[in-house]
Amino acid sequence: MARAKPVDNRGAVPDIKDSMARTQRKAKPGGGGRGRAAERAGDLAAIVLAAGQGTRMRSARAKVLHELLGRPLGLYPIELARALGADPVVVVLGHQREAVEGALLARLGVGAVTVVEQTQQRGTGHAVRLAMPALSGFRGKLVLVLYGDVPLLRRETLEELVGTARRYGCLAVVTTTPPDPTGYGRIVRDQRGHVTGVVEEKDASPEERAITEVNAGIYCGPADFFRRATAGLGARNAQGEYYLTDIVARAAADAEIGVTAIDADFRDVAGINDRRQLAEAEAAMRARINQAFMAHVTFRDPASAVVEPDVEIGVDVELGRNVALRGRTRIGHGARIGDGVILTDVEVGAGAEIRPYTVGTEAVIGAGARVGPFAHLRPGTRLGPDTHVGNFVETKQTTLGRGSKANHLSYLGDATIGERVNVGAGTITCNYNGYEKFRTFIEDGAFIGSDTQLVAPVRVGKGAVVGAGTTVTRDVAPGALALTRVPQIEKRGYARKVAKKYADKRKSG
Ligand code: UD1
Ligand code: CA
Repeated sequence: MARAKPVDNRGAVPDIKDSMARTQRKAKPGGGGRGRAAERAGDLAAIVLAAGQGTRMRSARAKVLHELLGRPLGLYPIELARALGADPVVVVLGHQREAVEGALLARLGVGAVTVVEQTQQRGTGHAVRLAMPALSGFRGKLVLVLYGDVPLLRRETLEELVGTARRYGCLAVVTTTPPDPTGYGRIVRDQRGHVTGVVEEKDASPEERAITEVNAGIYCGPADFFRRATAGLGARNAQGEYYLTDIVARAAADAEIGVTAIDADFRDVAGINDRRQLAEAEAAMRARINQAFMAHVTFRDPASAVVEPDVEIGVDVELGRNVALRGRTRIGHGARIGDGVILTDVEVGAGAEIRPYTVGTEAVIGAGARVGPFAHLRPGTRLGPDTHVGNFVETKQTTLGRGSKANHLSYLGDATIGERVNVGAGTITCNYNGYEKFRTFIEDGAFIGSDTQLVAPVRVGKGAVVGAGTTVTRDVAPGALALTRVPQIEKRGYARKVAKKYADKRKSG
């Protein structure tokens, strides 16, 4: 999630790049810049366990595909591992393997992860053992093991975990103290406080169950140790499963390896098992992201603002109440985003003002533009710098050149509109004949009167004027006036005559 990706600066928003480059690294939630782990990239592989069913979600959908802030929750640990430089990242899938693999690869790109199938869930140790052949040739390096359902895990925790394993060549394990340890594997320590093993709840003695420190299920250690230790696992325990946790005692007993515990806040390492936990995790992630952005962005109401993990926001941006910034939305510096604005994959230029209740998807808004209130920018909209798009204007696959305006009540679909064009109230591009779509071209400086219909394909030339109420079906030459209007008739004294007629009728009736 804290992936430092290059800012790709397509199109009409030249100033966005600088503000992003300056702010994005520290603005990324859970960021903290490049850690030690990233500097040593190349010695780390990761295994993400996600074969389980997730019965408690009570869902037809696999647990890891449930969305948390707009993306499958299983993506969070994978991206975190990648952000730490883990390569390869091996994902163990079982339940709904094809659906999960498809959804993850659609997001990550083919080849980003290696998928290993575990057809029967015979335990966490079995899952890791199945993943090890994908790491053959990975000798002398480190393996990080994560769960696919722990989205709130922090980068700092993993950096500490990996750094510890790297420094001491030990098995480093994340431990935590939940409010209620029921169900978790307990951390067993000797009199000196050294970790000697993990005992699962179902195998634990009453004394062991009284232990409050538990195993979070996140480990890092030498690849060769993982290979040896998982190959030697048995399943003689209360659940008849291959417990990955058994490798902890093995590392503790091996003077060459040893165990180091890394303590983490329970809220950050808790797995998602049901929809209540999913909602809580989403709220926590939202707060974490908003907190990070508050270093340089003003939130009118951080509790109601939704900013998804891939969003980038420049300095001095103001966000109103109930704003939702989704997908790969990028906001340039100094832009103002009004109450209730919902933007998905939208690029907003520096200093632009997006007024309340505007909805935009896959659109580019130029620097200094003014949009809304109540505008609807649909995919393929590109508004140039200093454009105005006002209330109840819908755009789709439409370009508006610098300084052009469409301020009221219009539908502009499949239109290429030049610079300094004025589109009057109630203008409609008729782009669809029921079978095919066609484009409308309006050249620089043209003036489109109110209540005009432009029946595409059609072109209005440079500086041409279209009179109000016109239905344009043929191209208009540059500088010409186009007008289709029924001549106005006038009947003098009409109103009084009608009034008298009805007054007479009432009297006689
Ligand atoms: C495991 C630990 C326990 C720890 C707890 C933390 C073991 C034996 N126990 O408990 O000490 O306190 O996690 O949450 O490891 N999975 C597979 N294949 C399998 C089994 C599990 O991929 O065969 C995946 C699941 O999809 C899940 C993760 O591993 O993402 C953990 O499995 P889960 O059954 O929740 O772990 P527990 O046994 O409850
Ligand atoms: Ca669990």
